[in-house]
Amino acid sequence: MGYKSIIDKNREWIDEVWNKLDEKLSRTAVKSRYKIPYTTVNGEHDDHKDTINKWTNGFWGGLMWLMYIGTGKECYKLTAEESECMLDKAFGKMAKLHHDVGFLWHITSGVDYRLTGNEDSKNRTLIAAMCLAGRYNVEGNFIRAWNAMWQGEDTTGWTIIDTMMNLPLLYWASGELGDDRFKYIAVRHADMAMRDHVRKDGSVNHIVVHDPTKPDTVLGTRAGQGYSEGSCWSRGDAWALYGFAISYIHTHEERYLETSKKVADYFIAETEKTGWLPRLDFRQPETPVYYDSTAGAIAACGLIELAKFSEGKEQEKYLSAAINILQTMEKNWCDWSETEDSILQMGSLMYEREQHMPIIYGDYFFAEAILKLKGNEFLPW
Ligand code: GLY
Repeated sequence: MGYKSIIDKNREWIDEVWNKLDEKLSRTAVKSRYKIPYTTVNGEHDDHKDTINKWTNGFWGGLMWLMYIGTGKECYKLTAEESECMLDKAFGKMAKLHHDVGFLWHITSGVDYRLTGNEDSKNRTLIAAMCLAGRYNVEGNFIRAWNAMWQGEDTTGWTIIDTMMNLPLLYWASGELGDDRFKYIAVRHADMAMRDHVRKDGSVNHIVVHDPTKPDTVLGTRAGQGYSEGSCWSRGDAWALYGFAISYIHTHEERYLETSKKVADYFIAETEKTGWLPRLDFRQPETPVYYDSTAGAIAACGLIELAKFSEGKEQEKYLSAAINILQTMEKNWCDWSETEDSILQMGSLMYEREQHMPIIYGDYFFAEAILKLKGNEFLPW
C-alpha cells in the first residue's frame, strides 16, 4: 500500500485524535498559560519557571505552536508567546546552558520567527545557535553535551546521542545568516555520532567519552539513561532515528538517511516484540518491565519522515510502524479526561528513576506526529 492509501485507511482515527488533542489542549493552553510544565501533580501541570534552564522547558511553547499551526487558534499563539518571553530568563544564566538550547529555542522562538517574522524571536534563536556552536570542541570534532553535574566531574569529552536533535538549530542559523560555519559544526558532530554512537545493528550508545584534546578519539562509553553500558536506551535510539532523518533533510547527505533507516529497522523490530509499546531499554532485564511512551512518540515522528523518503514496501514498513505505535499508545496510554492536564502517560526519564509518568515532550512529539499524519508539511526542526 502507498503512503496516501495508508493515510486514507486511517483517516478517521487521525482526525478523531487531532480533534481530541485540540479539545484538550485548547483548555490547558488557557489554564497553564503562565506555567512552564514538565509533568503533572494530581492532574495539574507543574511549573518550572524557577528552574528556567531545564532542557525540557521549550516543549510546552513548542506544543502550543504545533497546535496553532494545525488550527490557527489564537489561544495557542498567546500561550506560545508567553512561554517564549518566560524563557528569556535562561539567557541570564549562560554558564548553566547546555547543548539542549535547540530543544529550548528552535521549537519556540525559532518557530515563532519562521511563522511570523518576529525579529525578537530571530534574535533569541540566533543567540541559542551561537551558544550551541560555542560548545564545539575543535580538537575533538564534537559538541560537548552536558556541563559537570557535581564539582570536579569532567564531562569535557562527553557526547550524547540526544544532541542530534539540537543540530537543526545550527542548520537553520547557517541558512539564515548565509554562512555555512554553523552547518560545518553540525555535520562534523553528526559524522562523529554516526561513527561512535550508532552501532552496526542500529542500537546506540547513549554516552561516548572522547579525548577532548585529540581528533576523533574514543576513550569509552557510559550507560547514561538506559539499563547499562552496552544496552540500548529506547529514547536514545529514537533521538538517533529522528535526528539523522532531520540531518538528511537539511543536508541531503545520503549517509544520514541510511543511518536513520538502520536505527529505524532496529527500533521497529524491538518495539514489535512488545505489541508496539516501546520498552525503556531494549536490552533491559525481563523484569521489571519498564516502558517509555516518549520514545514511541519521537520514533513515530522520524518514521513518518522516513516514509516520505522511501518507496514501495519500505515506505509501507515505516509508515505502518509509526501508525501502529501511535494507535497502540493512544489506546493504552492516552488520558483524554478533563481531570488530567497531560495526555500521553507512561513516559520514563531513565532506568534508575522516574518511570511511567507523563512528560511534556511525550505530548509534544505525539502531537507533532499526528500533525504530520494530517498532512501538514511544516517541520519545526
Ligand atoms: N535529552 C535527555 C533525555 O532524553 O532524557
